Amino acid sequence: MNIYQSDPKVACSSTADPNSFAYVACTKRWPDIIRDAADDIEQGGERRGDAEAKKIAGRIRDLAHDLETDAPIEPFEHGLSGVTEYNDELGRLGCVSWLNCKWLFAECYIYRYIACLFAESTHWKGYDVFENAKRGAFTSSSKAVDELATRFMELREELHSKEGNEQQKKLLFVEILEICLWGNATDLSLLGTLDMAQLANRQGRQAIKESQKNIIDNDIDALWKDVATFNHKRVDIILDNAGFELFADLLFASFLIESGMASTVVLHPKDFGWFVSDVTMNDIKGLLGQMKDMNVDKITKLAEYWEGLFASRQFETFEHSFWTTAHPYCRMPYAAPDLLKELQKSDLVVFKGDLNYRKLTGDVHWPSTTPFQAAICPLSQQGLRVLTLRTNKADVCVGLEPGMEERLNKEAGGPAWRRSGKYAVISYCN
Ligand code: F6P
Ligand code: MG
Repeated sequence: MNIYQSDPKVACSSTADPNSFAYVACTKRWPDIIRDAADDIEQGGERRGDAEAKKIAGRIRDLAHDLETDAPIEPFEHGLSGVTEYNDELGRLGCVSWLNCKWLFAECYIYRYIACLFAESTHWKGYDVFENAKRGAFTSSSKAVDELATRFMELREELHSKEGNEQQKKLLFVEILEICLWGNATDLSLLGTLDMAQLANRQGRQAIKESQKNIIDNDIDALWKDVATFNHKRVDIILDNAGFELFADLLFASFLIESGMASTVVLHPKDFGWFVSDVTMNDIKGLLGQMKDMNVDKITKLAEYWEGLFASRQFETFEHSFWTTAHPYCRMPYAAPDLLKELQKSDLVVFKGDLNYRKLTGDVHWPSTTPFQAAICPLSQQGLRVLTLRTNKADVCVGLEPGMEERLNKEAGGPAWRRSGKYAVISYCN
């Protein structure tokens, strides 16, 4: 079977295009990320700086150099877990170099490459080179965490108040969904240079309210029509970033449980450090620990409440290696039929963040008025209800009304609106 058969017949975002965000990412952003990773294992902490660490750091730095000199992308050595699929696609792409490659493939390759260096080491197996950065980012978000925790408590009371009617329930649902959406605006791979005050300005409740007008494709009414009557359903969340975004995701997940809309929320983390800030199993535990370490009564209580939801299996986790392949999600029916089968048990599958959106849409140059449902084909034909909550941090964007792209180009003076994280989509298809 040809797993590539349903790839969109539209040109991919490519690092070869000097006007693209892919080009900026490859020439500037990735080398910085890669060198930070090398620094992490060489500097500070016990075992850091040992001979093996130096060797791994050296190979990571070589990778940065390869990017900067536009070296060919080499196949992985066989035998390591997860590399066959990369090598197969690389074989299909032919002779590609860092500045002449599908953006999606090249970027995923980097994180797989780094994971392989740890996997084949003796003392560093399973090491997450981004963990320290992830923990630090959560600490910087403490102001917004405090504010949103307070708001969540109020919201929970409003939800359970006797006067609550359907219209009110919808308003609360929209509010918590938007908290979850904008949690995606401040991930490390894009905004690593913000200081604490700037971060707080982007994350608080006021910022969320003001950003409502920046949701450029908003299917919330169609979504509500389907979920308003949800009673003890299963919702799956394909997670994106750790720390603050995961905190916002868990607020949304607990709203679903508290409201009775869901009896189970299944969380899908990554199986190794991915795109700098993505959630691994370890990050879920890490978040709960960090919340308790804040020594703020209401946040400790919230962490304990979530621990209870995990213990009672109202919150569950499900790991699958498909999420750390370079496959766009149109290949899921052929490349990961078991995962698709699992998601088909769900009543709503929520894809968080920019990379998930790129993979859903294939990361290609769709006209911006392409319906979301058409762009995520054939996943939209598999009986799933698909919701994506994404702040725009890459070129691909679909589901816009005619004329919207032109208005945005004017407003942002070019394509910056696609990449800045200022705009967002709530796209849904059933
Ligand atoms: O290069 C920036 C970038 O890594 C994009 O490639 C990617 O889509 C995004 O950041 C990650 O964003 P998110 O965490 O929302 O998926
Ligand atoms: Mg991410």
